[in-house]
Amino acid sequence: MELPGKGVARAELDARMDEAKAQDVDWRGGRIGVYIHYGGEDVLDVAKQAYLKFFSENGLGPKAFPSLARFEQDVIAMTLGLLHGGPDACGSMTTGGTESIFLAVKSARDWARVNRPAVAAPEILAPITAHPAFNKAAYFYGMRVRRVAVGADFLADVAALEAAIGPQTIMLVGSAPAYPHGVMDPIADLAALAERTGSWMHVDACVGGFIAPFARLLGEPVAEFDFAIPGVRSISADLHKYGYAAKGASTVVYRDAESFAFQGYEFDEWPRGKYSTQTLVGTRAGGAIAAAWAVMNYLGEDGYLKVTSRILAVRKALEQGVRDLGLTVWGEPHLSILSYGSKERDMGAVADRMASKGWFVGRLAEPPGIHLMLNLTHEPVVDAYLADLKSALEESGHAAGAAGIRDVSY
Ligand SMILES: Cc1ncc(COP(=O)(O)O)c(C=O)c1O
Repeated sequence: MELPGKGVARAELDARMDEAKAQDVDWRGGRIGVYIHYGGEDVLDVAKQAYLKFFSENGLGPKAFPSLARFEQDVIAMTLGLLHGGPDACGSMTTGGTESIFLAVKSARDWARVNRPAVAAPEILAPITAHPAFNKAAYFYGMRVRRVAVGADFLADVAALEAAIGPQTIMLVGSAPAYPHGVMDPIADLAALAERTGSWMHVDACVGGFIAPFARLLGEPVAEFDFAIPGVRSISADLHKYGYAAKGASTVVYRDAESFAFQGYEFDEWPRGKYSTQTLVGTRAGGAIAAAWAVMNYLGEDGYLKVTSRILAVRKALEQGVRDLGLTVWGEPHLSILSYGSKERDMGAVADRMASKGWFVGRLAEPPGIHLMLNLTHEPVVDAYLADLKSALEESGHAAGAAGIRDVSY
């Protein structure tokens, strides 16, 4: 479209946006298991109101907006409290998991320049299940990632990673949990390996950072993954996932100020004077910072425990239902992601059938399957989902030599 010569009236704009929105997937109806992290109508409202209150303010300017600077400090302090940060731990709010990972990789690279000066071409070693953001960051920075196969349980294979460590390895990555199968890597073993080999250990808890601590408090068998483990140097944890904040909010946190010091950037060679930021982006939505602060305070530990327990109940019900239908749950999920499939079925055909029944299907390439990242929108639709899955299995038949998943694109 071209820029309208004359502005469009508000009512007309509203109508056009509603019309556009009507084409989108029905996330409120629990029809999608990706992109959305819903913690209840009240939580959403708190986030929206806080976002609007700070809609125009800019996180780039802490001197102009000390409110945002304070909110960020509070959010980081609350996050570090959950992740067992010590007195010297610190970090930043960022715009999302990808930015948090970009910053952790940058910090590790600059740390290695000082502490591993013999390394000419720094590389990251990661299980194959680590998020693409590590490769994206490495690509942007001219670094390299080597990915190592996981075990039959889909967990990082620590022995295989150890065997793969080379003289240029400066960073080891583990996920808590990894997105494809929702399983928690053995972070304690990985961190010990990183310590032994002089590497920077990063834990990607973008998904788990704000749900795993509460699952642990609820007595779920979720292994330690945070700064309670001595070798862990940095953690990424997304507020806009299971923190239930507005989108555009994540954290990257460090064991100590010395590690955090590698994150920032300063520039002084232009007429406007010194420019310095801790994060990758410049301007940052004040609304996203305020919404995260407001939601964390609104929910408190008690609120997060309640939402977590309901989401875990949804996962357990779906997990059982999927098993009852003769399908296999890939790995042993402990949190909010469920991946399942079957070696005997054409899971691509099953996924297509589910899509035709109005579900937006997250497809898993390896092993072929269906991927769900759950939230409270799924609570009322567990039975409907399983009933449709039963029909989808009947309709797709027992195709031997499964064609698998054809299209897993986001
Ligand atoms: C484990 C993990 N890390 C990082 C990310 C990237 O987060 P974002 O999409 O907020 O950049 C995701 C997104 O799903 C993820 O699952």
